[in-house]
Amino acid sequence: MAINNVMVIGAGQMGAGIAQVCAQSGFNVLLHDRDKNALQAGINGIEKLLARNVEKKRLTKEEKATTLGRLTPSHTLEDAATCDLIIEAVVENMDVKSAVFKEVDTHAPKHAILASNTSSLPITEIAAETKRPDQVIGMHFMNPVPVMKLVEIIRGLQTSDETYETIQMMTVQLSKTPVEVKDFPGFVSNRILMPMINEAIYTVYEGVATPKDVDQVMKLGMNHPMGPLTLADFIGLDTCLYIMEVLHEGFGDSKYRPCPLLRQYVKAGWLGKKSGKGFYEYS
Ligand code: NAI
Repeated sequence: MAINNVMVIGAGQMGAGIAQVCAQSGFNVLLHDRDKNALQAGINGIEKLLARNVEKKRLTKEEKATTLGRLTPSHTLEDAATCDLIIEAVVENMDVKSAVFKEVDTHAPKHAILASNTSSLPITEIAAETKRPDQVIGMHFMNPVPVMKLVEIIRGLQTSDETYETIQMMTVQLSKTPVEVKDFPGFVSNRILMPMINEAIYTVYEGVATPKDVDQVMKLGMNHPMGPLTLADFIGLDTCLYIMEVLHEGFGDSKYRPCPLLRQYVKAGWLGKKSGKGFYEYS
């Protein structure tokens, strides 16, 4: 199946990145968010990133204009009616995602594929909200989307081979590397990454070391390009908490219990870089 028109739902850090990469790769993109300000911020962010790429001579002015010309803001999910692929990137919350899939399923044309950028939630369960579970799939991009090469492609129990192959090909067209994974909590990436981040938060919570020192140990000692607490701030502490809860519930194993300090930060609205404060402060 040929994909030409893509809708991205959620214009936060991931949705905006996915929309940018799709537009840069030649797809027509509708970017939707239920919050008008978030939608505008998403579009502004894309413009800024493209402008920086022009300054750094990684992109020509014409390429920037062409990319922006392929990007259209959308104020209603009904716009899904014109799309071949809908990629959902709203908050990591099952109730919110279920409602989005249920509604999009009623607007999208029969042939359209519905993908979720979820970090951890079951694709099979999301697919069950629709009348086309064979055309629902996980397309898990990494943050920041324009930079990171990996896309985990998650097959739900009912995802068809045709859907998988179409999405695998599209991922390659985006100049990304697809890796196929099965539908288990946290898939591969977050099943391994999040318990490490959670453990790093426990070491701060228990007073073993400061956030800066925890990050220093992992950078200099383990050769990680970024410490786990800096990474947690970049991902968003609310997203980290949601993912730990999914792992905890999905496996029923106490080793995945979210650190109380993580819960406290999220309750305080300290969500990391996007809110200006997490384990570090951002201006
Ligand atoms: P974010 O908080 O930056 O953005 C979420 C956006 O969704 C917000 O702009 C919000 O207004 C919008 N939204 C919420 N409910 C909506 C609805 N019903 N309809 C339309 N828009 C709605 O979150 P972020 O970080 O972009 O995460 C989005 C998804 O991507 C989550 O599922 C997350 O787990 C996943 N993800 C996040 C990564 C990260 O590093 N932050 C990495 C890979 C995946």
